[in-house]
Amino acid sequence: LVVVILCGGRSPEATVSRLSAGRIQGVLARHYDNLHVLELDRHVATELERIKPDVVFPLLHGPYGEDGTIQGLLDTLEIPYIGSGVHPSAICMDKHFTKRLLEPLGVALARSILVRREEGLDRGVDNAIQALSFPVVVKPRSLGSTIAIRVAHNREELLEHAQTAFDLEPHILIEEFIPGREVTVSIIERPTPVVMPVLEIRTPNQVWYDYDHKYTPGLCEHLIPAPIPEEQYQYCQDWALKIHHELGLRDLSRTDFMVPEEGDPVFLEVNTMPGMTPTSLLPDAVENFGLSILDMAMELINNAIT
Ligand code: DAL
Ligand code: MG
Repeated sequence: LVVVILCGGRSPEATVSRLSAGRIQGVLARHYDNLHVLELDRHVATELERIKPDVVFPLLHGPYGEDGTIQGLLDTLEIPYIGSGVHPSAICMDKHFTKRLLEPLGVALARSILVRREEGLDRGVDNAIQALSFPVVVKPRSLGSTIAIRVAHNREELLEHAQTAFDLEPHILIEEFIPGREVTVSIIERPTPVVMPVLEIRTPNQVWYDYDHKYTPGLCEHLIPAPIPEEQYQYCQDWALKIHHELGLRDLSRTDFMVPEEGDPVFLEVNTMPGMTPTSLLPDAVENFGLSILDMAMELINNAIT
């Protein structure tokens, strides 16, 4: 079997992607002689035509990889691949569209305002201030790994964080801040979707779980199963599964929630190609469930080629 792992690319998460690819390459190398790790660049189609893989594992995070673009290319080249197809990938990369699609289903969501760069910074920020109360969270519409996500406590901070986010993307979300504990639920298709244990992320002194905390070994604790009340635990697992199904996701996904002191956990986002780095969340949840990363990767390969 010829297997290609795709990584890197133009996304701000390219470095994370290379770490994910390195880990999966490490476990698969012992089982597949014909394993290639390919950097995503302008020559990718030519390289794929040359290598002729039986299956591609696009371990790509963020734009130009997790967003349907590479999925479209692989569909065109008729190469089977692991993970969701074009439409679900594109939708989940966009936090605004995802929320609008999930709203009618009834999952708890944080209220948010979409601000477009062309509206003007001041006007957009003032609209958001009218609709929401401080603190608020600023998020680029489609980046991952908490890149440029910041909490603003007043107008001045909001202007500053919005500008930072606009430097990366033309559209941003300004969202009500949900105080609580951050948890995540991974789904693996074996080949029917199986819900992994809920994982809680604990940062030291409750600081923000930002890019540095995500990828510096030892900074965050992963608590599995998440020590949250049974009802909230079940809510997260049920909704992660329902969302995977409703959005037509395939093979794997990871849905993030904020769990308040009381009441329903609030949906944050779905990742269609979750990180698989040594500090990432999905691999820990999968191992805690009792599945090795090697077996997971081999099952996903099997799903893709059958
Ligand atoms: N966006 C990063 C890679 C994650 O979800 O794990
Ligand atoms: Mg993400």
